[in-house]
Amino acid sequence: MGRMVFDPQTYFNPRRPRRLRQTPQLRALTAETRLDPADFILPVFVADGITEKREISSMPGVFQHTTDSLKALCHEALEAGVTCVDVFGVPEDAAKDAEGSIAWDPDGVLNRGLAALREEFGDDLLIMADTCLDEFTDHGHCGVVATDRFGRQVVDNDATLELYAKMALAQAEAGAHIVSPSGMMDGQIGVIREALDEAGFTDVAIMAYSAKYASKFFGPFRDAVGSSLTGDRRTYQQDPANIRESLLEVELDLDEGADFVLVKPAMPYLDVLSQVAAMSPVPVAAYQVSGEYSMLVAAGQNGWIDFHDTMMEALIGIKRAGADQILTYYAIEASRALRAAGGR
Ligand code: PBG
Repeated sequence: MGRMVFDPQTYFNPRRPRRLRQTPQLRALTAETRLDPADFILPVFVADGITEKREISSMPGVFQHTTDSLKALCHEALEAGVTCVDVFGVPEDAAKDAEGSIAWDPDGVLNRGLAALREEFGDDLLIMADTCLDEFTDHGHCGVVATDRFGRQVVDNDATLELYAKMALAQAEAGAHIVSPSGMMDGQIGVIREALDEAGFTDVAIMAYSAKYASKFFGPFRDAVGSSLTGDRRTYQQDPANIRESLLEVELDLDEGADFVLVKPAMPYLDVLSQVAAMSPVPVAAYQVSGEYSMLVAAGQNGWIDFHDTMMEALIGIKRAGADQILTYYAIEASRALRAAGGR
């Protein structure tokens, strides 16, 4: 056989994928994935010990809020079409202790913030609460630190579960529509579901952080919440090398009553997201975390990329990979842009 020679005159190719890329109208008509403000969940921080909102230095454009500035931010979110916020609490250092007991105190910063939002917005805004102890413990771990019989410091899974149940109850009582256990303790969803149901909160939903990796992409978040952590979370968060484990985590959380499952971080774990989306019978959320946000901001500030467009590309990629909901610090701006562009 002689070499095939390409002759543009005689070359016949009925398949020309470029045909559908010719104009913005054709591209919009054939887009397989669309972002919608209703997909977004905005993570927000409510802090004690500040009198006005304070920008987080490693997350330009993201602030620690007072209760009042948080309400104002949530009004902006609703106006932009964002209908759900995920609330994190930032207590003063003096309020932290070994168990993180301020987390289930109705007067603790997070529960006061949740109550204020519920009072302000009723059911117009979906109020989701982060259900994890790391912001509230003086050691910064997501659970109870104990010494095992070999003298090793460990995060005690089962002792932590009781505290998560108390925390979730306090959040439901404060008015959270959704609680979101993010501490990666085994059995956390079941324990929280049972506690909520026993107290009559059968309609409070659980967004389970099912596949949460021990990620360095959380770096800026630790600034955001003034984390006291030294060391890492590798004994409870997942190893970035693994994916099968995520599918097991999802199955367990489903058995225990998860209403949503979540994958976190998003961009370095799109394969995980895609496999979870393929098997999950419940909605699948993805969390575009602090490091993902801050890297894009920083590159944009250097003039190396166009921040907004790159961010929108990251978000559509996360949706295409299978996310039904996306937690993103860019939710308000992205929603405004989508509305201005008529949905694209
Ligand atoms: C733990 C929690 C973390 C994040 C959300 N919930 C930090 C961690 O596990 O260390 C990270 C979010 C982000 O990086 O944007 N409660």
